Amino acid sequence: MNGRGLEGVVAADTRLSRVYGEEGRLVYSGYEIEDLAENTSFEEVCHLLWYGALPTRTQLDSLRGKLADAPVPEPIHDLIRLAPAGVHPMATLRTAISALGFFDADAEDNGADANERKAIRLTAQTTTITAAIDRIRNGRDPLRPREDLGLAANFLYMLSGQTPDPLDARIVDVALILHAEHGMNASTFAARVAAGTLADMHGAVTAAIATLKGPLHGGANERVMRMLQEVGAADRAGEWVASALGRGEKIMGFGHRVYRTLDPRAPILKRLARQLGERAGDARWLEISERIQAIMSEEMDRRGKKIYPNVDFFSASVYFTLGIPTDLFTNVFACARMAGWTAHVMEQHRDNRLIRPKAEYMGPMGLEVKPIEARR
Ligand code: COA
Repeated sequence: MNGRGLEGVVAADTRLSRVYGEEGRLVYSGYEIEDLAENTSFEEVCHLLWYGALPTRTQLDSLRGKLADAPVPEPIHDLIRLAPAGVHPMATLRTAISALGFFDADAEDNGADANERKAIRLTAQTTTITAAIDRIRNGRDPLRPREDLGLAANFLYMLSGQTPDPLDARIVDVALILHAEHGMNASTFAARVAAGTLADMHGAVTAAIATLKGPLHGGANERVMRMLQEVGAADRAGEWVASALGRGEKIMGFGHRVYRTLDPRAPILKRLARQLGERAGDARWLEISERIQAIMSEEMDRRGKKIYPNVDFFSASVYFTLGIPTDLFTNVFACARMAGWTAHVMEQHRDNRLIRPKAEYMGPMGLEVKPIEARR
């Protein structure tokens, strides 16, 4: 079979982003990721992805208002309360987002206007629901977003109940920008396959969340944190990495299907991790991360493999230092990527053709059905 895992296969035309694997460069609709991370907010990036242009002040204010006015229906909180203890928050999110469709008047309408309204609501609601999942499992009541806060600040507020520090809110904002969109990654592909059958947006993003949950995709950030905690100190990193590689395990937060060099989002997150570490007077997680990065660089060079840190490697210590529970990291990724998924669903619906590749049949031929008693 050519292109195992569909490597190198172009599955759609898109105006949303371009990933340059060899150069380690990422562009959203014409803008370099570094420029967006430095000079825009997550809401501006949402506008770029959904409407194809950065917003004017009036457009931004209008979008902010709509994002703040997307309440989560009360039955969704009841549903979250039904989740047994220990259920992964991504499983709860997947179920809750699917169920949101019950209460959305636009659920079955794939028209452009309805899709835009749903993209806004779903993006706001994913953040609200992620915070609600954490509050409810800790016996607290969920909070509604505040109109005076942006989406990133609202996420921290709804999680803790406290008005967040502006630096913390900005760091979450940048993390959301960096995770918002990334070409035909596995979860976006899942969303586009679902949308390509003319399934509705809630269904398509539910498929995307299910796909993001896997450890080879969005689930890696949580596992990176568990690795940093297991390693515990920078001087133990060498031994830990050698024994994991010796067991044939992959090191979480390294490697990428497209990038053959450093993921351009990783150094931005590393800077944020450094900023947070310096403020907290605790650089431990960054030190361990940098040590693992150096060891992996040496080892992968020796093996002749182009394996570098990806977006998940430094986002883990950023989220942890911000006080976000480790098992919620992938949900934070979903909060950001909801912007990209919904933009892709709209793009697919605008110019749709069913996505239906072929499989190479490798099984036997020419068999005949025997009576059941004669089978062994
Ligand atoms: N640690 C150690 N070795 C790795 C590695 C990692 N994180 N990622 C890839 N490799 C090795 C593979 O073992 C393979 O070696 P081989 O040729 O000797 O078999 C080679 O590099 C190519 O890897 P492969 O698994 O074929 O790459 P892929 O394109 O199919 O997978 C990922 C890409 C991202 C799934 C893979 O790199 C991975 O599992 N990374 C860890 C999970 C992660 O961080 N995911 C988040 C991605 S943003």
